[in-house]
Amino acid sequence: MKTLFSATILSIFLTVSCNSEIEPLYKDKNAPVEDRISDLVQRMTFDEKVLQLNQYLAGENTNVNNIGESTKDMPAGIGSLIYFNSDPEVRNLIQKKAMEESRLGIPILFGFDVIHGYRTIYPISLGVAASWNPELLKKACGVAAKEACLSGIDWTFSPMIDVASDPRWGRVAEGYGEDSYTNSVFGVAAVKGYQGESLSDPYSIAACLKHYIGYGRSEGGRDYRYSDISRQSLWETYMPPYHACVKAGAATLMSGFNDISGVPATANHYTLTEVLKKQWQHDGFVVSDWEAVDQLIAQGVAKDRKEAGLKAFKAGVEMDMKDNIYLENFKQLVDEDKLSISEIDDAVSRILRVKFRLGLFDEPYTKVVPESARYLQPQDKKVAEQLVEESIVLLKNEASTLPFSASVKKVALIGPMAKDKENLIGAWPAKGDCKDVESISEGFEKEFGTRIKVSYALGCDFEGDDESGFSEAISIAKKSDIVVVCIGEKNGWSGENATRSTIALPTIQEQLVVNLKKAGKPIVLVLTNGRPLELVRLEPLVDAIVELWQPGVAGGSPLAGILSGRVNPSAKLAITFPLTTGQIPTYYNMRQCARPFSKMGDYQDISTEPLYWFGHGLSYTTYQYGTAKLSASQITREQKLTVDVTVSNTGKMDGKETVLWYISDPACSISRPIKELKFFEKKEIKAGEKTVYTFEIDPLKDLSYPDETGKYFLEQGDFYVHVGDQKLKFELIK
Ligand code: GLC
Repeated sequence: MKTLFSATILSIFLTVSCNSEIEPLYKDKNAPVEDRISDLVQRMTFDEKVLQLNQYLAGENTNVNNIGESTKDMPAGIGSLIYFNSDPEVRNLIQKKAMEESRLGIPILFGFDVIHGYRTIYPISLGVAASWNPELLKKACGVAAKEACLSGIDWTFSPMIDVASDPRWGRVAEGYGEDSYTNSVFGVAAVKGYQGESLSDPYSIAACLKHYIGYGRSEGGRDYRYSDISRQSLWETYMPPYHACVKAGAATLMSGFNDISGVPATANHYTLTEVLKKQWQHDGFVVSDWEAVDQLIAQGVAKDRKEAGLKAFKAGVEMDMKDNIYLENFKQLVDEDKLSISEIDDAVSRILRVKFRLGLFDEPYTKVVPESARYLQPQDKKVAEQLVEESIVLLKNEASTLPFSASVKKVALIGPMAKDKENLIGAWPAKGDCKDVESISEGFEKEFGTRIKVSYALGCDFEGDDESGFSEAISIAKKSDIVVVCIGEKNGWSGENATRSTIALPTIQEQLVVNLKKAGKPIVLVLTNGRPLELVRLEPLVDAIVELWQPGVAGGSPLAGILSGRVNPSAKLAITFPLTTGQIPTYYNMRQCARPFSKMGDYQDISTEPLYWFGHGLSYTTYQYGTAKLSASQITREQKLTVDVTVSNTGKMDGKETVLWYISDPACSISRPIKELKFFEKKEIKAGEKTVYTFEIDPLKDLSYPDETGKYFLEQGDFYVHVGDQKLKFELIK
């Protein structure tokens, strides 16, 4: 009896314990994420843990700067893949292998560069920043996230928030310009657009802040190079956008290729751990840039791959993109006591945390919908079109050449960009298809129909010395009422690995404009480019200049709408256009200097003023700024100061005006920039109406400055708030 009784108890115990094993805690979607992580990590073998720290490729690699084959015999337990394919069913097949063939069924994280749209491509970031409409960017990122999700992507390597003021560096195209605050605001908008209210929402994807940190300071604008950044500059200029986006919940970051004053970004314990993990308490993870771990050898801080892997991981890079160094070396490094299991467990936990938060353990597969329902939905194309309309900058408009007057019946549309689609789509168009792009010429047809006769001539190619097309161009120009010449940069001339020694366009393009001038007609210059251009020779030849940037799929109609007057341009530059390459770097928030107004220290051979400052942009209407009013002339650090300015639309067209608010501190323990953007607001003002813009100055946020440790200081004394052409003084008394 006794034997039977104990056997029964044992079988019940085994049944219960086996039952509890059928549903391990980490698979219980109602359990807290942290409990699921620790339950899973304790179940994992060493090899399973290290596999999570690696990222490989799947699908044919379309990034010309990084050639790599799709990983053969994909290990089922791999942590992440860069998914170059766009078929959700292929992704689900790979994921099924991970979920059903690996011992613990840990889902793979599928990443991809969704930079300015997935298939519905919107303008490059440098153009988006000129819209001063972060809400619209958030919407556009939401569209990109949805399209990416439906294609099998869980994670985008975006937003790029590298502050950059050297337009020789091709990647200025990818960021939000030369100002730290602008990159903060648009970076946060992008993070919220991608990640939604919750990472586990159906169309949310994880964001990845890049390239952490200081990549935009690449010396001489040369890509992948040294960037000399003092700790002071690090905290004043480069840290704020990352801190703002980490506070906004960005799930991941990507460590950069650049060197930071001798310590590469991918081996920089100070930035990756002391600041990001300890000070900011970031609990997601860092992925290296493409083979950036291996590149530590070339950067001179590692003698071999093993040392490179150790340095990157110890610094705080949890995931190794592509070069397989972690998988190859971690067993040996642990055996040599150079790495501990607990360090590996922390890294694995960070990666699992993002996967749990994304809901990948509970919903590992992509919902498959017909391709026609995945991309280019009308409402999504509308968002892209509005973003183009609001990013086009009217740089020059002599004698109101634009919009076309009623007398304009014949337009000569000339230049290599006029019918182009390959370059309008932009510097990094993910799964964008050039055939989706509406060309400038197509936009003209739609906008002008038969009411304006549009004649076309190529004029010239983007480069080379073939001027044979000039005569035809001049001839149609002579028969027109106005000339629209469309020139600019080819796609590969900006973006990654696209450093140029000059920001001037090739001579052939300039010569086309010089020759068109002979036709004696007004000329509108339309630019498609990914960086500020040197326009010193072109600007005097033309009556109007329109900066189209690289607009993505909705290029033609927004531009035509601006030329016709259907759309009133509202954009303002988020990066300064130097007069010539020789003026680089010139940016709006340069430091106050010893002899600023004496003309001493200026260039002897050219003006020291750039052609167009940060914040420049014209409208078809006129705005009158009333006298700005301070709520007080003195405040203490506990008080807020509000500044109001009434802006009237004194013209005949409704418009959208962005008011940029700056602060300057003329006397401080350390020299401060001439002025610093601290707030901006864009509002619609109907013709004849006015509206009040208000900036609420919070001393701690708007008047303080960091020292080289990132500690913020607030000093009593005089400050100025700048708005329009006004400068108002107030005092911080304690
Ligand atoms: C590239 C870029 C980075 C990109 C990564 C993956 O080299 O520097 O921005 O996300 O590789 O494609």
